[in-house]
Amino acid sequence: MTVQATNTPHDIDTDQSSPIPNDGAAPRAPRAALSVVRDLPPHRLPQVEAHLPLTVAHELGVPTVHRTVVDAANFDHGATTPALVSVRDAVDATLPTYGSVHRGAGLPSRVTTGWFEQARVTVGEFVGARPDDEVVFTRNTTDALALLAHCVPRGTQVFAWESAHHAALLPWGRRHCTRLAVPNSAADAVELLRSALAASDARGKLVVITGACNVTGEVWPVRELIAAAREHGARTVIDAAQLAPHREIDLADLGADWVAFSGHKLYAPYGAGVLVGRRDWLDLASPYLPGGGATARVRHQHITWQSGAARHEGGTPNAVGAIALAAACATLRRHHEEIERHESALFDQLRAGLREIPGVRLVTVLGDDRPNVGVVTFTVAGYDPSLVSLVLSDEYGISVRDGRFCAHLLCDNILGDGSSAVRASIGLATRAHHVGRLLDGVRRLVESGPTLDYTYDESTGWTAADDPRDLSAPCPW
Ligand code: ALA
Repeated sequence: MTVQATNTPHDIDTDQSSPIPNDGAAPRAPRAALSVVRDLPPHRLPQVEAHLPLTVAHELGVPTVHRTVVDAANFDHGATTPALVSVRDAVDATLPTYGSVHRGAGLPSRVTTGWFEQARVTVGEFVGARPDDEVVFTRNTTDALALLAHCVPRGTQVFAWESAHHAALLPWGRRHCTRLAVPNSAADAVELLRSALAASDARGKLVVITGACNVTGEVWPVRELIAAAREHGARTVIDAAQLAPHREIDLADLGADWVAFSGHKLYAPYGAGVLVGRRDWLDLASPYLPGGGATARVRHQHITWQSGAARHEGGTPNAVGAIALAAACATLRRHHEEIERHESALFDQLRAGLREIPGVRLVTVLGDDRPNVGVVTFTVAGYDPSLVSLVLSDEYGISVRDGRFCAHLLCDNILGDGSSAVRASIGLATRAHHVGRLLDGVRRLVESGPTLDYTYDESTGWTAADDPRDLSAPCPW
């Protein structure tokens, strides 16, 4: 399939407040992405808001198919985030004294062990953990929820909405998990839960609550759902992968039992995530990762396992990842209000702008009036969502995600069987002029189509014809 080009490159570099002009002179010859980035004139970079924590990627320039260089417009925070400068600095500060955790008497080992254990305290404070809660470091949210699933006592029934991310929907096992229908409002979500809990005579109950929907960014009625769960003696876990980077969470105040989230969505992409919460189920379960560190004593006939976090953190832990996560938590905790203000303003601008473009349909689950963390998911009539995201990337230097977002049951329900959408997710690397550029890109696409020919191939997806760029980059090692 080929899409006809209009052959009129969009003049996207004329706005001095938005993309970085490419000298204003003759178009540059295409060059490797990395050399283009290095050549960006620093004085032409957009001003970053002084009150916000900086991300390491705030100066990233990307070449477009029109031979311009624009500052990267990041609308993909829902998938992963760049590191914060404070996180990168914390990691750099960790490396000179990096040593084994809980396994050595040398200075590096003692320093790293101290910082690793302090990281638990900082991460616990970030989510308002109770004094006797455990903070267990994992790889990411998927791993944290799989750990909890491993620890769920026999006879426990788990309740999860079909709208949940696969990481929160699948680890419990089909037989032990009651799937609640996709709700159409916050009140409906609470009602569905109440009825299901009332109808269950399971010995133990666990409710899996999405903090903010990864497809639509809508914030779920977490407090109300926890209250409903507690009325029925059920425990709760919050999947906060999409909530923790944007809103304050207070486990103790909410009365939730556990929370799980990832470093890579919280500006700490160093391979660590976390499960925080009650220790009783964790201590009763067999170790999640049996091995060194999880054992207190091994004899031929009997093994005594550790209790607490160590029980489930077998092997040398990812101390650098844990320290990075703690650094991100410490920074975000100091800036919660500014972050929320920044993201809400951009979200309002983006949502209002998209609503005005004919053929653009915005997608929601719980209705239009839910608080939202800064995600707008949409479709453009007549265009495959993966072509929309490629056009935004190739022609405008904009990163969005398209697809079904690891939430297939939800996407089937709100988009149609097998259908996908485009998701723009705002975060600390997003600026107001990026929103303007995204709106401009979608509007021009609707009005005049893409500026190049794009072809579709089953195995490689969409590709722009005559792309002048060389996007190969040497490996950094
Ligand atoms: N779960 C992540 C997302 O929604 C990867 O994009």
